[in-house]
Amino acid sequence: MARIRTAVFPVAGRGTRFLPATKASPKEMLPIVDKPLIQYAAEEALAAGAEKLVFITGYAKRAIEDHFDKDHELEQELEAQGKRDLLDAVRGIVPSYASCIYIRQPAPLGLGHAVLCSRPVVGNEPFFIHLADDLIEADEPCLKQMAQVFQDREASILGVETVAPDQTDKYGIVAARPVEGRLSQVDRIVEKPKPKDAPSNLAVVGRYLLTPGIYAKLETTGRGAGGEIQLTDGIAALLADEAIYAYAFEGRRYDCGSKLGYLEATVEYALKHHNLGDQFAAYLAKLVADRLRR
Ligand code: UTP
Repeated sequence: MARIRTAVFPVAGRGTRFLPATKASPKEMLPIVDKPLIQYAAEEALAAGAEKLVFITGYAKRAIEDHFDKDHELEQELEAQGKRDLLDAVRGIVPSYASCIYIRQPAPLGLGHAVLCSRPVVGNEPFFIHLADDLIEADEPCLKQMAQVFQDREASILGVETVAPDQTDKYGIVAARPVEGRLSQVDRIVEKPKPKDAPSNLAVVGRYLLTPGIYAKLETTGRGAGGEIQLTDGIAALLADEAIYAYAFEGRRYDCGSKLGYLEATVEYALKHHNLGDQFAAYLAKLVADRLRR
C-alpha cells in the first residue's frame, strides 16, 4: 500500500490578519505556549509517516529555515550548562531521517500557485498539504487519520469541518454525499461562496491528501477568488477526472490565522501543558473570580 512520504507546507502567505506581528516574521513562527505553529505542523506530518517536509516559503520567512536547522553552538552551550531538557527539546525538532526542503514562491499568487511550486520535489506521488495556521488537536493526528482513509480509497481526501452557515465565504465549501462514518464523496467544491450561494456549510480546512493529478490542473488554473490562483479551483478541475473524498476528521481545530482562534489555542494548550497547566489554571480562575467580583 502506498505510504505518503511527502508533506507540503505552504508558508508564503503575507499573514495580513496578524500585522504588525507578521511584518518581519512569519505567522507560522507564532508560538503556542513554547512551540511555533510550524513545529506542530511538522510533528503532525511526521506522525502520519511523512519523511520529506517541503516548505513553500516567501518574503520574510527565513526564520522557518533557521528553526529546522541544526544549531551546533546552541547545543554545545546547553550541554555545557547541563540543560538536558532544553537540549532534548532543541535536538528533537526534526528527527534525523526526515529531510527539510525549501522552495521559494516568487510572489504570493495564491495557495494553488504555492502548491504548484512543490511539483519538482513531490513528483508522481500522493502527498499531504498542511496549513500550519489551522492547528488541530486530536488523539490521532489529523493527517494520520487521513492517511488511513487513503489506504482504503486511494484517492484524494480533503479534511472538512462543519462551519456556521454565515462563515462560508471564508472557506472552500464542498457539496458531498455520505459514504460511511466520517467519509463523504465530493460532488462539487467552490471557493469562498457567499452564504446564499453556498452548496452546504461543510468547509475544507488546512489538511489535504492529494494525488499528483492536481499539478496538471493547477498548471491551467487561472486567478479565482481574490485574484489568487486557488487550490480549490484546481481541486474542482481534478473532480472531473477522479473521485475525491471529504473526511470529517476527529479533533478540535483552532484557526490560528485569526487573533481570537490563536488566543483560544494558546489558553487551551497552556491549560494542558505538562509543566504549566495547574499553575495557569489557578491564575485564570483567580483572574475570572476577580473580574466577577468587580
Ligand atoms: P491565507 O488565506 O491564510 O493567507 O493562506 P495568509 O496570507 O497566510 O494570511 P492572511 O489572510 O493575509 O492573514 C492560506 C495558506 O496558504 C499559504 C499561506 O501561507 C497559508 O498557509 N499561501 C497563501 C501561500 O503559501 N502562498 C500564497 O500566495 C498564498
